[in-house]
Parts: sequence; structure tokens; C-alpha cells
Amino acid sequence: MLRTIKDVEDIEGKRVFIRCDFNVPKDEDGNITDDRRIRAALPTIMYCIDHDCKIILASHFERPTPGVYEEKYSLNPVAKRLHTLLKKEILKASDVVGEDAKTKAASLKEGDILLLANLRFHPGETTNDEEFAKELASFADIYVNDAFGACHRKHASIYALALQFPKKHRVAGFLLKKEVNFFSKTLQKPDRPFLAVIGGSKVSGKLEAIENLISKVDKIIIGGAMAFTFLKARGFNVGKSLVEDDLLDVAKETMDKAIKQGVKFYLPVDLVVAPKVDEFAPIKYLPAQEIPKDWMGLDVGPASSRLFREVINDTQLIIWNGPMGVYEMDKFAKGSIMMSHHIAESNATTVVGGGDTADVTKRAGDIDEMTFVSTGGGASLQLLEGKTLPGVEVLDTK
Ligand code: 3PG
Repeated sequence: MLRTIKDVEDIEGKRVFIRCDFNVPKDEDGNITDDRRIRAALPTIMYCIDHDCKIILASHFERPTPGVYEEKYSLNPVAKRLHTLLKKEILKASDVVGEDAKTKAASLKEGDILLLANLRFHPGETTNDEEFAKELASFADIYVNDAFGACHRKHASIYALALQFPKKHRVAGFLLKKEVNFFSKTLQKPDRPFLAVIGGSKVSGKLEAIENLISKVDKIIIGGAMAFTFLKARGFNVGKSLVEDDLLDVAKETMDKAIKQGVKFYLPVDLVVAPKVDEFAPIKYLPAQEIPKDWMGLDVGPASSRLFREVINDTQLIIWNGPMGVYEMDKFAKGSIMMSHHIAESNATTVVGGGDTADVTKRAGDIDEMTFVSTGGGASLQLLEGKTLPGVEVLDTK
């Protein structure tokens, strides 16, 4: 079992580094559309405030070019939301391990909170650089990982940094522990039929994950961008839709494997298509085999939604990871909203994974109907595949 910050003795007055996942969805005006990941980190932060710790918060935000500062990737909106939720001043560093961060970290008083700049502004973060990890480690006495959503990434703040601390001082936050416990209980002996609904725009990485999922689940529904790689692998013309051509073979093998293992594999049968990703573009509802050459699929169509409802009706456990289309635009949101309603109305245990998927269920008004809303998309998928998470492996257990 993971040890948490509660298991660390004498933390009063100590400098505590809390790795959070504040990678929250934003709209085109930069407003946070779902702050669940921020709220979910509050119990650990408040525990540290109550124990008079000097708190250093750090997170990545989206995927900036490493080493390049860009305002649109800054954590300023997060700092503002933390301030609103905690009703406390949030000190901000303009860099990650530069002069500003160093000076501010060194002058923290008990109960103070410092938020470092987006970790991915530093080139050492995604390369799991040890020197960068050492610099971060110099800020704190205790390392806490509460970033479940990022634990599948072997990045410096998740992995190399933890290793800089003695075992008893690298522990889980309350959110991380809750997530890991939930998944290990649910996946130990899953209720069946077990359905995975996989969508979303982050295609790379997920295709391989689906291959591993085949041996765990009874049925799979594929929506979102990756559906087109599968449709193309089936020989359909998918027009300008997003396709990973180098993974067509993997997609084909995955579908063959599903047939061999008796796993039901569902792809959209119709789509909402448009010439481009644009809220004002003309749209058509067409069968999946009729996508025009210069058009692209941007959502699953109404016939697919009805088909998926039938599939969902006969399940005991559903894990949903990734929206069915470009849900941020109303025109392409219906497939995801319908998916949310159908899952919420089912009698199955329903698990929603990832920031975007949680955002969809919130917009659909279904979020409170779900059994468990995980803050991790890729991380929960990795647990589902039966893999361990690098960020969890390095923490102390009891
Ligand atoms: C997520 O949103 O899944 C996590 O924050 C990880 O983000 P990443 O896929 O950019 O590593």
C-alpha cells in the first residue's frame, strides 16, 4: 500500500514539494472549463497548510516546446483558481528552477504556497533529466506525488525527482492514493461484460494501448480521432480525417486479435463530416463508408450513437476514456454528449477517465451520475492495460 503525506512524521515547518496535475481544459478565451484536477489536489495542499509546511506546487500544462516560454502555456489561470479555492495568496515563480524560483522557494514561510512555472518550459522535464531533478529537489525536504494524471510519464518531476529523496520522504498525495486504490480494486476481478469506450484526440500511444486492452475487456467502442485509423485499416476511404498511417498495421492486427479472442469491436457506422475543423463549416451526416475525399470526420453520427447505446445496455462495467469528436465545438459535440447520457443511464459501474472526458460529462450534466471520475486519462488507460505507472513505482509503500 502506498504511504501518503499523512504517514510522514514531523512535517511541521518542512518544505514540501507537491507534484500536481493542473493540466486542465481551457476554452478558446483561456478560461478553465473544468477545474476538477485543481479541486482534487486541495486535500493534500490543505493538509500541508494545516501542518505549517512551506509548500511548493508544480505541474505541467499542455505541451509547450521544451525550453520556450509562451504565455498561453503559463499556469497563471491555475494560480488564480487556486487563490479563489484556497482563499490564500499563491506566490508565482516566473521560471522553473531559475533565479526567481530559487529566491522565492528559499524565502517561503510556514503556510506559504509557491507555484513554479509550467514544468515543461524546462527542457529537462520530458527527458527525465537528472540534473534538472537535482535542482528541483534542492527546493524541498519531502516529495509528494499527487499527479495521478501524469504518473504514466517517466518525466523528471515524476520519476527522477522522486529518486532524489530518501524513500520515507517520497510519498503519495491523497488523490493519487484514492485513484490507485480504486483502479486496483475495480480491475482485480472486473464485473462482466466489461466495456471500454475509447476516443479523444491524443491518438499516439492509445492505439497500442487498445491492442493490450483486447485481452482485458469483452467489448470495445472506438470513437474520436483514432476511429479513422481503424476505418482506413478496414479499407474505407476516410477523406481528410486524421489518420496515423504508420499504425495501420497495428490497427488491423488489433481488430484481428479482437475477432480471435471473441472481443466485440465497434467502430462508428456514420459520422458528422465537414471540410475543416471550424464551428462555421458546413456539415453532413454520412455513413462511414461515404466520407468525401476533401472532407473529414469530426464526430460520430446519430446511427452510431444508437448502436453504441445498445452495446452499453448489456454491460456491468464501463470505462470511458476520450470524447467521441471535437466536443469543444457545439456542432461536433453531440456524439460525446449522447455517449455521456447513455453511459450515465446504464446500470453498470461507470468510470470516466481524463480531463476532457470529465469535461464532456460535466457539460452533459451527467458527471454526478458516474460511479468514479478519474483525473487521469492516459494513466488510467495504462492501469487498465495491466501496466504499472512509473510515478507510482518510485514511491514508498508500507
Ligand atoms: C493528461 O492530460 O492526460 C495528463 O495531464 C498528461 O498530459 P500529457 O498527455 O501531455 O503528458
